Amino acid sequence: MKQTDQTPWWQDGIIYQIYPRSFQDSDGDGVGDLNGIARRLDHLVDLGVDAVWISPIYPSPGKDAGYDVSDYCGIDPLFGTLADFDALVAAAHGRGLKVLMDFVPSHSSDRHPWFLESRSSRDNPKRDWYVWRDARPDGSPPNNWISEFAGPAWTWDEATGQYWLNIYLPEQPALNWRNPDVRQAMYDAMRFWFDRGVDGFRVDAAEHLAPDDRLRDNLPNPDWTEDMGPARSLFRTFSSHQPAGFDAVHEMRAVADEYEDRVLVGEAYGTLDEVVQYYGRDLKGFHLPFNFELINAPWDARHIAGYIDTYEAAIPKGGWPNWVLGNHDRKRIASRVGQAQARVAAMLLLTLRGTPTLYQGDELGLENGHVPPEMVQDPWEKNVPGFGLGRDPVRMPIPWDDTEGRGFTTGTPWLPVADGPSVIDQRGAETTMLTLTQRMIALRRAEITLRRGEYRRLHGDDHVLVFARDREDARLVVALNFTDRDQLVALEGTPLLSTVPGELPETAPGSLRANEGLVLRVR
Ligand code: NOJ
Ligand code: MG
Repeated sequence: MKQTDQTPWWQDGIIYQIYPRSFQDSDGDGVGDLNGIARRLDHLVDLGVDAVWISPIYPSPGKDAGYDVSDYCGIDPLFGTLADFDALVAAAHGRGLKVLMDFVPSHSSDRHPWFLESRSSRDNPKRDWYVWRDARPDGSPPNNWISEFAGPAWTWDEATGQYWLNIYLPEQPALNWRNPDVRQAMYDAMRFWFDRGVDGFRVDAAEHLAPDDRLRDNLPNPDWTEDMGPARSLFRTFSSHQPAGFDAVHEMRAVADEYEDRVLVGEAYGTLDEVVQYYGRDLKGFHLPFNFELINAPWDARHIAGYIDTYEAAIPKGGWPNWVLGNHDRKRIASRVGQAQARVAAMLLLTLRGTPTLYQGDELGLENGHVPPEMVQDPWEKNVPGFGLGRDPVRMPIPWDDTEGRGFTTGTPWLPVADGPSVIDQRGAETTMLTLTQRMIALRRAEITLRRGEYRRLHGDDHVLVFARDREDARLVVALNFTDRDQLVALEGTPLLSTVPGELPETAPGSLRANEGLVLRVR
C-alpha cells in the first residue's frame, strides 16, 4: 500500500491467513508447502491483500498440526527449507506483501530438545524450563485444570516422579515463562526471524503464558454442556490471562520494537475486557490483539451493532481495532450464516474501522467440509468425537481449478480438497464471492475513508445495520440487511458497491434487497 504519511502498514492493510498445509502443494506429497505458497502469490496480489500470516511451518511432530514446535528456528521438511522460506519472503516482498509468521510461545513439542533435557532428570539445568509439580498425596495431579483438548492438564512422568503441565496435548508441554532463560531463548527466536526480514508474528495462545504459580483450582462453569468440550466445564480462572503473562507480552513487544515497522498480532480468547488488556500499558503490548467478537456472534443486526459499539468503546485510546470472521479453529462463516449472508459478512469485515484478517478460502465462500472418520487429523476430534469440535472441516485444501486434485496437489491430499466453486471458476465471474471480495478490497484500498474514517452507527434494528465512516468532509455509508427479505430503510448517497450482483441502483434506494449490503458515497 502506498504510504503518504506515517500510518503504519498494519493499520491500513488487510491480513490474509494462510493455512500452509492446505494452500498449495508443490511436491505431490499431498501437503501444502512453501514453494506452493510462492506459486500462488499472484492470487493474493489479485485479491488485493497486504500481508499474509502463515500458520506454523516450524519443525514439528505434527501432533497439533504444527502448533507443537520442536525447533523455533527452523522449517519443517514437510514445508521446505530455510532457503525456500527466504525465497518466499523475498518473492512476497517483491510484490509488496508483508509476511507474518506464527509464534507459539506458550508450549513446545515434547520432542523439543529443551523438553527432552528437562525431562531427563530433576536436576537438569533445563528442568525449570517447563512447569513440573509433585503429585498430591493421593497421587492425583496438582490441581483441577483440564487440557483444552480433554483430559487433565497434567501428565505424569514416571522416570522423574512429577507431573508436567500441558494446557493442550500432553505432547505440548507448557514452557515456564517465569524462567528468564526461557524468555530470552524465545526472544532470540523472534529475532532470528526478524533478522530474516519477517514483518511480524501472530502470537499463539497468549492467554496461557505464565498461568498462576500457586496453581489454584479453576472454578466450575455452571452453564457447561457436553458439546462445549470438557475444558469448558471450568472457567479458566487461574490458568489464563495472568499478570506475568501480560508482562511477557510487553517484553515481546520490546523485541519487535528493536526493528522497524514490525507488528505483533495476539491470539487471546477471553472476555472483551481481557482481550483489550493485551494492547498493554501505554499501548506497549500487542499492536493488534485479535478481536474475535464476530467469530461466534449470533448473526443479527442488533447483536452485531452491539458488539461493534462495545468493542469501539473498549479499545484503549490510541489503540487500533481489528476484526476477524474466521480462522483455522472456528466454523467457516459461510457455514455459520449461509452463502447469501456470507457476502454481507464480508462487506461488514471489509468496511469496519480496523484491520481485517481474512481466512484463506473465505474469499471463495468455502463451507465446512465433510471429513470421513478414517481421515480425521485433528486431535480434538479424536479425543472428543462427535460434537463437531474437530477443526478439520475448516482446514480442507483450497480448490484452485477443476482438474483431479483441484490444482492443490498431484498426490493424495492430507484432507479432502474443499468442495465449492474453484478459484478458476470464480475469477472474473460477476456473481462470485471471489469477485465481490476483490471489489470490496479494491474499494477499501481506494477509499481512505474506509480505512481510516471514524465509525458512527446511524441505524440498527433487528434486521438492518447502517453505519457511516467519516473522515474530514468525506462520508461513506454502509447499509447491511441481515435478513432474506427486503427491508425498508432511508438511505442517501450514491451507491458504490452492492453484495447483490448486477446493475447498481443509480441513486440511494428506499429499501435494501434480501441479503443486500450496500456501500454509498454521501460526500
Ligand atoms: C491456538 C491455535 O490457533 C490452535 O490451532 C492450536 O491448537 C492452539 N492454539 C494450541 O497451540
Ligand atoms: Mg508438499
